[in-house]
Amino acid sequence: MKYNPERDIPDLSGKVILITGGTAGIGKAAVFELAKHSPEQIYFTGRNAQAGAGIIAEAKQSSPRCAVTFIKCDLSASREDIRNSIQDQFKSSRLDILIANAGIMAVPPALGAEGFEIQFTSNYLGHAILLKLLRPLMVKTAKSSPDSDARLVMLSSFGHTVHLPGGIDFDSLRTPDAGTALQRYGQSKLADILLAKSMAKHYPQITSVSVHPGLVRTNLADNVEPSFMFSILTSLTWTPLYSSAEQGAYNALWAATAPKGSVENGAYYDPVGKKAGKKGQTSGLADAGRDKDLAERLWKWTEDELKGLEDLS
Ligand SMILES: NC(=O)c1ccc[n+]([C@@H]2O[C@H](COP(=O)([O-])OP(=O)(O)OC[C@H]3O[C@@H](n4cnc5c(N)ncnc54)[C@H](OP(=O)(O)O)[C@@H]3O)[C@@H](O)[C@H]2O)c1
Repeated sequence: MKYNPERDIPDLSGKVILITGGTAGIGKAAVFELAKHSPEQIYFTGRNAQAGAGIIAEAKQSSPRCAVTFIKCDLSASREDIRNSIQDQFKSSRLDILIANAGIMAVPPALGAEGFEIQFTSNYLGHAILLKLLRPLMVKTAKSSPDSDARLVMLSSFGHTVHLPGGIDFDSLRTPDAGTALQRYGQSKLADILLAKSMAKHYPQITSVSVHPGLVRTNLADNVEPSFMFSILTSLTWTPLYSSAEQGAYNALWAATAPKGSVENGAYYDPVGKKAGKKGQTSGLADAGRDKDLAERLWKWTEDELKGLEDLS
């Protein structure tokens, strides 16, 4: 598919959009592109408030009719802190599109505030917390009129294929250094795929998919564990073969805005809009990404873990 966001994204009037990690890279490019199509409101999150202010100023210039709001929210913070950030700063009565984009890759061993491995926390658990908070609002949005269309887009990666043995190693989630840094990244990105799959099963009224954005020139490799040879090989800033951040946003933009009938609930897409092929292809879906039992186990683990977290309905 020759994707052209200018042409292919429809008018988004009335829609409210939330993009995590909108302060840089793919998320930032998605904010600017979506703003051109006149949604009612775009919220974007990140930790870097200075970058957030710069993006708002730039969006005001390029798309003056779209309200763009920065929400300071660290996805590796405690569930209470995430809840407070969203409750204080998200003010809309609907949520049509949630693009779960924020992420870190192959960083040195650490734990997030909830006591889980940092990549699992920032890439998966923080988004699961956010989703738990906002899911009732998305369900309400999906039911609000016959043509309503609530979407969840999880930014995964072809890197999910290098997950830890077994896919998700539930026993080591509270361990900072299980396997390699890249395997821990793979595990977190596999969890993103499984979350979209489980959402399609448990909340079919929301269209939930996961996407690989391609190889994209961004800041993602800036904090890669130094011992990795691959950090030299995969430095996302210098290789001219990689896509621009704007092109890197295409698959997520497609998944968020393509006609509902063309997006399969629960599927994983290679760029742009290609349902992923078999394991062994350059960028396919790992067996663990199709594993219904694993998806259900992660769903139950997450629901149990977040029991007691009050949503924002
Ligand atoms: N680039 C690629 O080739 C590639 C390939 C496959 C998948 N991906 C996926 O694409 C997504 C976007 O990555 P990118 O390449 O655009 O990377 P990037 O340029 O490094 O941007 C990452 C974004 O995530 C935010 N973020 C990181 N940790 C956060 C935290 N704890 N809390 C809140 N926000 C956080 C950052 O914002 P702050 O610094 O303001 O917090 C930033 O806006 C990631 O999920 C990544 O795994 C990228």
